[in-house]
Amino acid sequence: MSAPLDIFGVHRVANGALWMEDVALSEVAHTFGTPTFVYSRAALSAAYARLDNALKRARKSKPYLICYAVKANSNLAVLNIFAKLGAGFDIVSGGELRRVLAAGGAPEKVVFSGLGKTRDEIAFALQIGIKGFNVESEPELKRISAVATELGKIARVSLRVNPDVDAKTHPYISTGLKNNKFGVAFDRAISTYQLASTLPNIEIAGVDCHIGSQLTDASPLLEAMGRLVSLADELESGGIPIHHICPGGGVGIAYADEPTIDIDAYATALEQALSIGGKKREMELLLEPGRMLTGNTGLLLAKIEYVKPTESKNFLVIDAAMNDLIRPSLYQAHHEIVMASAASDEVARVYDVVGPVCESADVLGRDRVLAAREGDLVAILSAGAYGFVMSSNYNTRPRAAEVMIDGANVHLARERERVDELFSAEHVPV
Ligand code: LLP
Repeated sequence: MSAPLDIFGVHRVANGALWMEDVALSEVAHTFGTPTFVYSRAALSAAYARLDNALKRARKSKPYLICYAVKANSNLAVLNIFAKLGAGFDIVSGGELRRVLAAGGAPEKVVFSGLGKTRDEIAFALQIGIKGFNVESEPELKRISAVATELGKIARVSLRVNPDVDAKTHPYISTGLKNNKFGVAFDRAISTYQLASTLPNIEIAGVDCHIGSQLTDASPLLEAMGRLVSLADELESGGIPIHHICPGGGVGIAYADEPTIDIDAYATALEQALSIGGKKREMELLLEPGRMLTGNTGLLLAKIEYVKPTESKNFLVIDAAMNDLIRPSLYQAHHEIVMASAASDEVARVYDVVGPVCESADVLGRDRVLAAREGDLVAILSAGAYGFVMSSNYNTRPRAAEVMIDGANVHLARERERVDELFSAEHVPV
């Protein structure tokens, strides 16, 4: 079994057909059609428990909070499961805050990240009473202070500092270097905190950073954490108390058989960073994980429309496309693709797996060896994070359904869009 299939032990193959928990994926396709994102409740819970247990062990009785990065997969069913497990949430828009509330998340466990918060978003978050804002610039800090003053609220803030650490990941998902649009430059951090301490209705809560995503080596994350700890020390010795410290998200997952970060070792190393120099630091540890909690807990189920041999290549044309899962086209990301239908006596051939969208970039996987026939089902693995959330209606394609498997139960987490919905808000001129 390839790594992504194996990870949370929720997939199995019976007679060559792929199951998730106690449900054959052919049953999902039969009931809900394709393409469909399929998530496993057991895998989501296992991913959360793995991190939660690692932090519990590392932190002993000291406080920590897992703020799930909603952007990775914002379906209400997913948010609801994490909320029930006690998670907090990291949001980047008023829309995500509304989702968290609709899913039963606790507002006092929400941190608001992102570099373009509008006045309305800030006001809404203050009224709801979130845990705090991760502030990315001086003008934002001033705006938050002004809105909080108007509303008679106190805004708790952390600065998202840019530690200038190379995350060594894809340039599109690397965010911690100087020339990125994100965060406050490290050498401006102290003066920005000093400014914050003079602004009305602002309470300084913590220090924060996020250096990038899909990191498979922990050292840049730990280097960034080290910088945050020294910044917190400097602030505290200058009379600014720091209540929490957050090295962001970014822990990568195995999309194939590549090595990944050991979660226990990561939690232990974060804890060690907090006691560097033999100093006792009692602040709360926050994390903002997205992908590691959802990536390998879901797949995209699709049907083969055509088997198309050509002189130079064989193509499998499936009914999922770059509008459903854009990661391969946008980041040249690799997703394993396996057969989900029962085994046939078809011979295995090398195929490019492509969608029907009119773009040469609409390739879900190149050079895959599959024993495939027209009408068979394929599963594109590791599609639980940055899958549905990044999907679009390009080519007037309705967005896929999302279902959640829970043991032998199949829960429709989001209905497939209907074509008429796609243009029902459009108007022809009179
Ligand atoms: N915190 C902040 C402030 C973030 O910007 C992000 C992700 C996270 C946490 C969660 O990072 P994670 O633990 O998931 O790595 N669409 C890309 C990934 C973009 C990540 C954006 N920020 C992809 O499909 O690979």
